Amino acid sequence: MSLIELTVEDLRCLQRAELAMDPRRNLIWGSNGSGKTSLLEAIFLLGRGRSFRTRNSERLIRHGQPRLTVFGRTDGMPAQAVGVQVSRAGGTVARISGATAGSLTELSQAFPVQVIDPGVHKLVEEGGFRRRRWMDWAVFHVEPGFADLWLRYTRAVKQRNAALRHQPAQASVWDPEVARLGELIAASRRNMLDELQPLWRQSVSGLSGLDVELHYSRGWSQDVPLAQALVDSRVRDEGKGQTHSGPHRADVLVRMAGRPAREVLSRGQQKLVAIAMTLAQIQLLQERTSLAPTLLLDDPAAELDGSHLLRFIEEVSRLNCQLVLTSLQPQLDLFGKPERVFHVEQGRVGPV
Ligand SMILES: Nc1ncnc2c1ncn2[C@@H]1O[C@H](COP(=O)(O)OP(=O)(O)O)[C@@H](O)[C@H]1O
Ligand SMILES: [Mg+2]
Repeated sequence: MSLIELTVEDLRCLQRAELAMDPRRNLIWGSNGSGKTSLLEAIFLLGRGRSFRTRNSERLIRHGQPRLTVFGRTDGMPAQAVGVQVSRAGGTVARISGATAGSLTELSQAFPVQVIDPGVHKLVEEGGFRRRRWMDWAVFHVEPGFADLWLRYTRAVKQRNAALRHQPAQASVWDPEVARLGELIAASRRNMLDELQPLWRQSVSGLSGLDVELHYSRGWSQDVPLAQALVDSRVRDEGKGQTHSGPHRADVLVRMAGRPAREVLSRGQQKLVAIAMTLAQIQLLQERTSLAPTLLLDDPAAELDGSHLLRFIEEVSRLNCQLVLTSLQPQLDLFGKPERVFHVEQGRVGPV
């Protein structure tokens, strides 16, 4: 599946842009601040309902405008028309082939997209939130029922938390539902990560030469079922008014020689490890589903030395997915000669 048409209105510095994209390699070039990353954010928004640069989607709306709109068409089977609108008044609304999407995860199925940008190392360096999101993006794709499971689980936890705060005696009413759904979520994640391991090992050693391991931490003690963990943490839960055990606390521990990777790896090495995590997932998706995600590469050569850049290029080329690259120069043939080249200047996209 590739994005072949993109229309952007009022996103950051882009007033209006229309791009006819190629299913293979696309290059967006322009000077600093011209709007290259903004275009990638527009594409990412189509598949994720959010940006990769900010948690606050309102920041994406062009100054002085009430809303932004992004529209895209894919060439998949079936082809999809996907639209996302973010307004200051009404938040984010997504449409897939004319119908309002029930949740943002539906978008992710209609248009799978991944990004590698200069901030990719945060996947290794920062807290569990990013890694949970990374993990779930793949689980959503390989297990179609997962999105619904997750929705029902978060609802049950919210109810339990509300009870912990206002009617503590009632909180345990929610335990069976939280425990049942929580165990299913944890099992789906474990399956995905088990399947990912061989691809991950190949990808991380190929890219970085480092012996880095991924360990799944499901969000509660390994020794007891979730139902028991909920009982065990009950006093603490009541004190804080929130549920401390469950898959919403899961993480994927990135470790080297038994220590957290963020403590022992340089920023450049963390970047390679995070890239390997991203590429391994794309490979998993390609093997398990008929989906080939679109890969956005923002300034791909930044911070990588010659030999690591070569390995990166090799790994990306093997994936055979649609690429959208940005560069300060009109030529960037690292991944082969791009089929389409777009020039951005002060928020306007034109021919080369
Ligand atoms: N909400 C906004 N409204 C208007 N302009 C914005 C907004 N947010 C950022 N910008 C501007 O958009 C420009 C393009 O940024 P960016 O896409 O990061 O450029 P590039 O990646 O080409 O260096 C910047 O000059 C920035 O000041
Ligand atoms: Mg940029």
